[in-house]
Amino acid sequence: MVWWFDSPRISFGEDALDDLERIPGEHVVVVTDPVVRRLGLADRARAVLERGERQTMVWDGAEPDPRVSVVRQASEALREASADLIVAVGGGSVIDTAKAAWVLYESPGTDLVALSPFDELGLRQKARLACVPTTAGTGSEATRDIVIREDETGRKFGTMNSELVPDYAILDPEMVRGLPRDLTAYTGMDALTHAVEGYFSIWKNDFSDACSLQAVKMIFEWLPQSVDNLSDTTAREKMLAAACLGGLSFSNSQVTLAHTLGHSLGSVLRVHHGLAVGMALPYVLEYVLRDSPETTEHIAQLGRLIGVTEVDAATAAQKFVERLRDLQARVGFPQTLSEAGVTKSDFENGLERLVEFAMMDTSLTMTPRDIDANGIRRIYKCMFKGRHVDF
Ligand SMILES: NC(=O)c1ccc[n+]([C@@H]2O[C@H](COP(=O)([O-])OP(=O)(O)OC[C@H]3O[C@@H](n4cnc5c(N)ncnc54)[C@H](O)[C@@H]3O)[C@@H](O)[C@H]2O)c1
Ligand SMILES: [Fe+2]
Repeated sequence: MVWWFDSPRISFGEDALDDLERIPGEHVVVVTDPVVRRLGLADRARAVLERGERQTMVWDGAEPDPRVSVVRQASEALREASADLIVAVGGGSVIDTAKAAWVLYESPGTDLVALSPFDELGLRQKARLACVPTTAGTGSEATRDIVIREDETGRKFGTMNSELVPDYAILDPEMVRGLPRDLTAYTGMDALTHAVEGYFSIWKNDFSDACSLQAVKMIFEWLPQSVDNLSDTTAREKMLAAACLGGLSFSNSQVTLAHTLGHSLGSVLRVHHGLAVGMALPYVLEYVLRDSPETTEHIAQLGRLIGVTEVDAATAAQKFVERLRDLQARVGFPQTLSEAGVTKSDFENGLERLVEFAMMDTSLTMTPRDIDANGIRRIYKCMFKGRHVDF
């Protein structure tokens, strides 16, 4: 069967931001959010862009987990500026806003909710997209994916299409240096979840595997340092690279049940994406490892990669899950929903909606073990209380 591996051109390392100067475009719109703008990061990108002869404007209306209506506002700004270069400066929410707005700008009238991998979007007739991440987690700067929210229901939905892979990804450690401790841990866990899920998704392949293996190794090595010393440039640079590799992995293989559960937690209880999927990951591993020699072997390989010495696959895979929980504890990452501040009544009131949205999530399809609504409900209950998944 024919398969494809998509990637943007990636600039990385100290002063990578300077590469913006070399990207062609006369009418540039920098897409960002108010926090990132206040931190001066959007203006830093703008200053580099303005070294050349061009008109540059900043649109700072993005929000966390962007709604379709906000995406529409961004696309209106692109239209008003007749943008030929879009530069997203921010976390995954900003980058996804820019990607989705780009679709509406190039093909007005597109129904974002109905977008499919098979659609011809006709992008790049008007503009190119460059992404400068200010978090080290989502990898969206390198992926085919966008995740946005329906206005009416608040449901987060993901969609993918090869045309959505940005043209340029610019990984400059200075742009993530100010990220606070909790967000550093949350986004780092998102990156790890991409790399691990990409390694046991039913669409895994040799190219995505290479990205996953390097990302897993780097995140275990560099996330603790990144959280301990927020201004450690080397740790920041390594985590940016690892997050982008995680993005390349899952974009070319897809995520699974941990993202299914995480998207619903973001929709219903407004839990941050990285916190939600990273928390779900060990519970999901316990679920997919049961009665599945193939997945067990894959997770055992990840265990050996980070120094687990047990020879038999089942024990090595189990040890990987333990190491994952140790890493989470080490970086102060909440391991249960109640630790993350979700109250019993919010959880109980939201549970059926969590399950309903999860059953609609496309990432469910790539999970190597089937699950029904009741299984999902049981895993959420385990996540609330911190009980192991033993079914
Ligand atoms: N398209 C994809 O491939 C993909 C992959 C994973 C996640 N996502 C989506 O990305 C979103 C999450 O993105 P995220 O985790 O990067 O967070 P985010 O973009 O939602 O940002 C979270 C908060 O951090 C702030 N922030 C961003 N950079 C900062 C910095 N350097 N210093 C201080 N504060 C900063 C933001 O302003 C915001 O308030 C979710 O909606 C998720 O579903 C998309
Ligand atoms: Fe993610």
